[in-house]
Amino acid sequence: MVSGGQLLSKIATNEGHGENSPYFDGWKAYDRNPFHPTDNPDGVIQMGLAENQLSFDLIRDWIKQNPEASICTVDGVHKFKDTANFQDYHGLPEFRKAIAKFMGMVRGGRVTFDPDRVVMGGGATGANELIMFCLADHGDAFLVPTPYYPAFDRDLTWRTGVQIIPVDSCSSNKFQVTKNALEAAYDRAQGAGINVKGLIIANPSNPLGTVLERETLKDLVSFINERNIHLVVDEIYAATIFSSSSFISVAEIIEEMDCNRNLIHIVYSLSKDMGLPGFRVGIVYSYNDEVVRCGRKMSSFGLVSSQTQYLLARMLSDEEFVKNFLAESSRRLNKRHSMFTKGLEQVRINCLKGNAGLYVWMDLHHLLKEPTFDGEMTLWRVIIDQVRLNVSPGCSFHCKEPGWFRVCFANMDDQTVEAALKRIRAFVCKGKEDHQEMPTKNKQRWQRNLRLSFSARRFEEGVKSPHVMSPHSPIPHSPLVRAK
Ligand SMILES: Cc1ncc(COP(=O)(O)O)c(C=O)c1O
Repeated sequence: MVSGGQLLSKIATNEGHGENSPYFDGWKAYDRNPFHPTDNPDGVIQMGLAENQLSFDLIRDWIKQNPEASICTVDGVHKFKDTANFQDYHGLPEFRKAIAKFMGMVRGGRVTFDPDRVVMGGGATGANELIMFCLADHGDAFLVPTPYYPAFDRDLTWRTGVQIIPVDSCSSNKFQVTKNALEAAYDRAQGAGINVKGLIIANPSNPLGTVLERETLKDLVSFINERNIHLVVDEIYAATIFSSSSFISVAEIIEEMDCNRNLIHIVYSLSKDMGLPGFRVGIVYSYNDEVVRCGRKMSSFGLVSSQTQYLLARMLSDEEFVKNFLAESSRRLNKRHSMFTKGLEQVRINCLKGNAGLYVWMDLHHLLKEPTFDGEMTLWRVIIDQVRLNVSPGCSFHCKEPGWFRVCFANMDDQTVEAALKRIRAFVCKGKEDHQEMPTKNKQRWQRNLRLSFSARRFEEGVKSPHVMSPHSPIPHSPLVRAK
């Protein structure tokens, strides 16, 4: 039999998809045994999915009240033909206008966006790849502060051939990116003969749930400006701010300082802020005319369906609805965040203090058998197998310190959060009891248990297909799952 490697391209057969990571591995565990409050109460609870499901009712109500916005309804069918025929890669003018206005509202009305600079992409996934294609050649590099969104490894590099240069951060300064770390990473790359084309960062951060301070943003802009390299800011979580300081967009910063705007680009999406990842609405907003021009041509590969554009143009230009949605969504996220973090505090689990995102960055280093990434993986497997929670280990975000985990809290209802907290409490208390009651020779029993379950799991993994799922894979219907 001819191997796939000989029949297919290098891209098709390399590991660049980046899915060979515990981040995606955890999804499989959930997929095999998904939690359901009545049908499967012992199943795995999905806490590895950064989805905003807390305000769906508001969108559903709007859709019911505006049936003409959906062209496949009696009220909207008169628009069916025009909308179904529309395929211009500029996008519907009213869609670009509504998106630009929405982006301004999300940023508190402190900045405005030009609809003519709005370029479509297939979600932020497509938008991030598109901007890489516009800015860098195969072999060029982008600096990416760690810990970073695991799928950047796929989105920025797989098909483009661009490399990621990680910029390390540490817990002692709350994982904030510093100018020193940027300079060190840049200089190292230059020394190795790598052509660094820019810096990309998510603000608010995934996985930290924090926002960049004004001064940090200014440092980033001056850093890239001095070196004449690009700055891409992925602002996909812009409207998930739920407490204290407000979000500052790079769009505001460049109003305040002198810089070459041709180097500044924003990536946006409605996947998190509106909770619509299935609509695949991604945006590249560039201040560089050339990038807008070539990005638009490239967007042919990832256009947003005209039906979706039409619906969203109607919804997002309803100012009253948007105002209410943004305020209510933020209020609900705040409530959920505080419910979850308070529950963790009761068992002395701390999280990095954050005010944004759909997750917390949880510190479990005190539960590690050993302060290494092996120790982190061991604990992670126990959490998946025994506590039956799919959380994501810090190593999958390229975090440099073992013991951190990202836990999502907005993709489930209150009862499921309670069930998760109950399991965490039981796990932590059991661990403590075991530890205290242990005779000396069994002192490490709890830790040994962790190790044992790790080995068992490894064996199980070994006999399974190495195939792993993507957040964009139709997981429940995959042949792998059906075969099982
Ligand atoms: C920082 C970041 N960028 C991009 C994406 C991809 O988003 P989309 O669903 O719009 O492709 C995600 C999704 O989790 C993300 O966290």
